[in-house]
Amino acid sequence: MSYPEIRPRRLRRNAAVRRLVSETRVDPAELVVPMFVKEGLTEPRAVASLPGVLQHSRDSLRKAAVEAVQAGVGGIMLFGVPASRDETGSGGIDPDGILNVAIRDVIAEVGDATVVMSDLCLDEFTSHGHCGVLTPDGAVDNDATLSAYARMAVAQADAGVHVVGPSGMMDGQVGAVRRALDAAGHQDVSVLAYAVKYASAFFGPFRDAVESALEGDRRTYQQDPANLRESLREVALDVAEGADMVMVKPALPYLDVVAAVRAAVDVPVAAYQVSGEYATVEAAAANGWIDRERVIMETLTSIRRAGAQIILTYWAVEAAQLLRQRY
Ligand code: PBG
Repeated sequence: MSYPEIRPRRLRRNAAVRRLVSETRVDPAELVVPMFVKEGLTEPRAVASLPGVLQHSRDSLRKAAVEAVQAGVGGIMLFGVPASRDETGSGGIDPDGILNVAIRDVIAEVGDATVVMSDLCLDEFTSHGHCGVLTPDGAVDNDATLSAYARMAVAQADAGVHVVGPSGMMDGQVGAVRRALDAAGHQDVSVLAYAVKYASAFFGPFRDAVESALEGDRRTYQQDPANLRESLREVALDVAEGADMVMVKPALPYLDVVAAVRAAVDVPVAAYQVSGEYATVEAAAANGWIDRERVIMETLTSIRRAGAQIILTYWAVEAAQLLRQRY
């Protein structure tokens, strides 16, 4: 070795020095836990393809929200599973629809102690499972969907939600939602835009969790996994339309996209570690093939390192608890 000897291993010699020089920390306050609530359930129900994740009853959702707050998570993202669906997804707009009722329940329980967010999309509420309303020939009608999103956003804000998360990938959705919220006096409600959302096979288990009716795919509105520059365009449009925060989804297979988005904008960037990312790790861990807790923390650290400040993850509550034990 040449002199002076550069020995990077000096900074890895024990846990204390590794902790001192660690460039990336995951903080519970930056984790958001997605939760599902199903209309009419009296007991929570397991989701087979998402071990450890539940379809909540209204009651168990309230308790889970309190537990999440106690664990110190930064937010809760709510998804509703209605008992019945129709062509236009009217259950998403109805103030008595399951998601709007659940928002009121959770806000009543936790108030401002964490950030309460809601998925703003029609796919859980439509009989055909698409994220929008359809034209007579079966295509997803962008602009008709925008008016539905606008009404849904106001219904969610009326229910008390802090942040809406438009996730349907319609063109102009952020602007339509922002204008509707403002016109209804909800200037304080933020928009977390699912700005970058790929047509991903990693959403499979989520579709079990919401009992999706979808046949076919979402490739006319969600993005082609091959494209990166397109994501930067999507993000620029959403920021121009008033997005307060932007999200990339899925997370781990798209860390290059997370990093590029982080470099391109100065609003907070979130990444959604989606159902298929969770399920693949859980399945391998259940077989004893990987060290579950270490893999969980490694994935979260990597998503954070790539530039996501906020991470949506089904492990949020457990990870928050693990992190608190550690420090
Ligand atoms: C749409 C929505 C989906 C997810 C979050 N919001 C499903 C889809 O686009 O098909 C997927 C989340 C996950 O896989 O964990 N409402």
